[in-house]
Amino acid sequence: MTNKNQIKIFDTTLRDGEQSPGASMNIEEKLKIATALEALGVDIIEAGFPAASKGDLEAVTEVSKIIKNSIVCGLSRASKFDIDAANSALKHAAQPRIHTFISTSELHMTHKLELSAEQVYEKVIDSVSYARNLCDDIEWSCEDGTRTDRDFMCRTVEAAIKSGATTINIPDTVGYSVPEEFSEIITHLFNTVPNIDKAIISTHCHNDLGVAVANSLAGVAAGARQIECTINGLGERAGNAALEEVVMAMRTRNDLMPYTTNIKTELLNKTSKLVSAVTGFPVQYNKAIVGKNAFAHEAGIHQDGMLKNSKTYEIMTPESVGVSESNLVMGKHSGRHAFKEKLIELGYDDIGDNAIEESFNNFKALADKKKNLYDEDIVAIVDDQVIRVNDIISLKDLSVVAGTKGPQTAEVTLIIDENEHFTKSSGDGPVDAIFNALIHLVPHKGKLQLYQVHAVTEGTDAQAEVSVRLSENGKTVVGQGSDTDTLVASAKAYINALNKLIVKREKTSPAKMSNIS
Ligand code: KIV
Ligand code: ZN
Repeated sequence: MTNKNQIKIFDTTLRDGEQSPGASMNIEEKLKIATALEALGVDIIEAGFPAASKGDLEAVTEVSKIIKNSIVCGLSRASKFDIDAANSALKHAAQPRIHTFISTSELHMTHKLELSAEQVYEKVIDSVSYARNLCDDIEWSCEDGTRTDRDFMCRTVEAAIKSGATTINIPDTVGYSVPEEFSEIITHLFNTVPNIDKAIISTHCHNDLGVAVANSLAGVAAGARQIECTINGLGERAGNAALEEVVMAMRTRNDLMPYTTNIKTELLNKTSKLVSAVTGFPVQYNKAIVGKNAFAHEAGIHQDGMLKNSKTYEIMTPESVGVSESNLVMGKHSGRHAFKEKLIELGYDDIGDNAIEESFNNFKALADKKKNLYDEDIVAIVDDQVIRVNDIISLKDLSVVAGTKGPQTAEVTLIIDENEHFTKSSGDGPVDAIFNALIHLVPHKGKLQLYQVHAVTEGTDAQAEVSVRLSENGKTVVGQGSDTDTLVASAKAYINALNKLIVKREKTSPAKMSNIS
């Protein structure tokens, strides 16, 4: 029996999220995120836009092969070429969905598409009918929906459903709407479109005015039963509705919003961290649900209340979103078996024996240096190990001269294709000296767009986790590295980015279309 208050969560981190400048991911990273989304309980994973690039086509194909419990969706414009590309990328999917869209606002039809409303109307029918002949699960979106003439929207929605669409998505493409208006649009569709009961209505809200989550919830209250969203609200410009926020809002205020989702909320924090690490996009400290301070209580009066009864200042428990007190884990005497058990507990049950062995050795080395080891340390060690598996370039040695006297210098030895290469460089500070040495050893035109350091745990002996974003000829990569020595972590992160850049150079792919959000 279907539950009329069940809300489908459609995650578009890998498609709309990835379109945000600087957030591009490689195939391994996409697979990692898709696996995490499936574990999280996401109903539909939009894995990419297959006609946009070879990389997207490959990503949707590979995600389709491994995901079994979520629907895998590929985006396409209203053309046979795009729909065929999506269909072919989805051929291995256990549950495929083709999502096709076209703009319906006067502004977009005139200036972007250069088509009349009647031409767009015909394209809706042609594209949806064509897609429906290939796949049973078809979603149709009216791009720039919230700035579309209401009568025209109703006509196109009716035609899309008649042509075989089973989900109708209403995008607030430019994040222009506000909750009252968005609710009216959905209500108007329910009151006007004769065959509306044959499809699920979906929201897709961008956050330009900071109300994407509020708009999505208003849409649900008006009858929508699917929310399109991204982890951490990732997405072009100000991003999309944040998955963790819409889900926790409905769960926490179930008295006002009596809706349910399939999301395992205890995995929200972990998934948020994964997306942040892969993209190099930090989560702001005071971000709702998954920010570092979301459950922190500093003010004395709050702390006092919390000690008496946590409900005084907490509307949901940290555990409900997977935030727990940092766990002190094993020390240097812990053995392989305990380490493996810990990895399973942290969700690393499939990294392979070699990665486990390497990570264990690194764990032992860290335990010699650092007094207290926490879960976060183990996560950093394993992630550091896993991201380096296919690297052509690796760091052998690094010595740095830093301090007030200057000049700051770095001596770097790299292994490149199994051969040692050494150089010494100076720079404006030790990090600059290291990066100059790396540029000398691996000449490239990549521009450094981001250099970010954060401490994995508390304390001055904490591991540093460094992210480096490089951009070369329109291709962006994010590298990561962690170590108790911030400078070593910086070198590792830069080298990781270089390795990814080399892989990207090898895959020549047409530029992504920039006008789809
Ligand atoms: O924002 C938007 O309009 C989109 C569509 C492609 C659904 O992302
Ligand atoms: Zn969008």
